[in-house]
Amino acid sequence: MEAHRSIAATPFIKDPRGMILIENLTKVYGAIKAVDSLSLKVEPGEIFGFLGPNGAGKTTTIRILTTLTKPTSGRAWINGFEVTRQPYEVKKQFGVVQQHLSLDRELTVWEIMELHGRLHHIKSGERRRRIEELLEYVELCEHARRKVRDLSGGMKRKLMIARALLHRPRLLLLDEPTIGLDAETRRRIWQLIRRLNSEGTTIFLTTHYIEEAEALCHRVGIIHQGKLIALGQPLELRLRLGEFAVEVLFDGQVHYHYFQSREEAKAYVRNLPSEIKAIVVRESNLEDVFVELTGRKVEDAENLVG
Ligand SMILES: Nc1ncnc2c1ncn2[C@@H]1O[C@H](COP(=O)(O)OP(=O)(O)OP(=O)(O)O)[C@@H](O)[C@H]1O
Ligand SMILES: [Mg+2]
Repeated sequence: MEAHRSIAATPFIKDPRGMILIENLTKVYGAIKAVDSLSLKVEPGEIFGFLGPNGAGKTTTIRILTTLTKPTSGRAWINGFEVTRQPYEVKKQFGVVQQHLSLDRELTVWEIMELHGRLHHIKSGERRRRIEELLEYVELCEHARRKVRDLSGGMKRKLMIARALLHRPRLLLLDEPTIGLDAETRRRIWQLIRRLNSEGTTIFLTTHYIEEAEALCHRVGIIHQGKLIALGQPLELRLRLGEFAVEVLFDGQVHYHYFQSREEAKAYVRNLPSEIKAIVVRESNLEDVFVELTGRKVEDAENLVG
């Protein structure tokens, strides 16, 4: 990799409440509990993945953390500042990339950055240097004069990340950072996220791509219908479910069974009726955890919250 200057966040002051602390957070929209008694702590330096199906409450959580939506009840802090009571301080702590593209199509890449820098009252000399540095970091230097409407989806996403980093936030919140991107571009964004994290930025990202959570995140929380139903390292969650999976095709449906060891899995297979032929024994993965919890076995999910 070519030598880049670090674009590191300002050093954080460690707060006992961690980088993000969420306590009993609830957001109600009419009859819907978009977020339901959510409690969660993210430590400085983590890449934390908030994984959940459509409508699970991921964006609502991010909107509350970024002061755009008021919670119905409960509290949240970012780097020790409370989101509802200290919004001004809170906004200095984070950069956010929204789920939906929020860029003026008629502005150029440079103008987008320039405007954001002015909003954050970054002085002109420093602003220029910082914009150059960030555009280089996200490989958009050659496109600085192009209008947003002429950029590819991946370039737009990178521009939104660069924009979010302008004021050197300690925490970067990414709502579905790679949605709609091809595999190659997705990997480039992953590299960017890893590098940012290795240089000191805490990352909180939402995704419903399981492989994204597995590839990137130190810890994941699985959210379903507004509730946190699992929390831990990807490997830890897998092991709690069972390290080995047996898939059995029966009655035109695949049935899944989980076991702590390959021997147990094999013993199970040996005892199956001999008419059942389509059987797969494999290692379990985070997708198994996700499907088990958000699909068929949600009622059993409580015991996975570690
Ligand atoms: N402003 C709003 N008014 C009414 N209901 C809302 C509003 N915002 C979100 N909701 C509802 O709250 C629930 C959670 O939505 P949210 O956008 O947080 O989910 P999500 O996990 O981000 O989903 P996706 O993966 O589709 O982005 C959904 O049922 C949604 O319809
Ligand atoms: Mg969302």
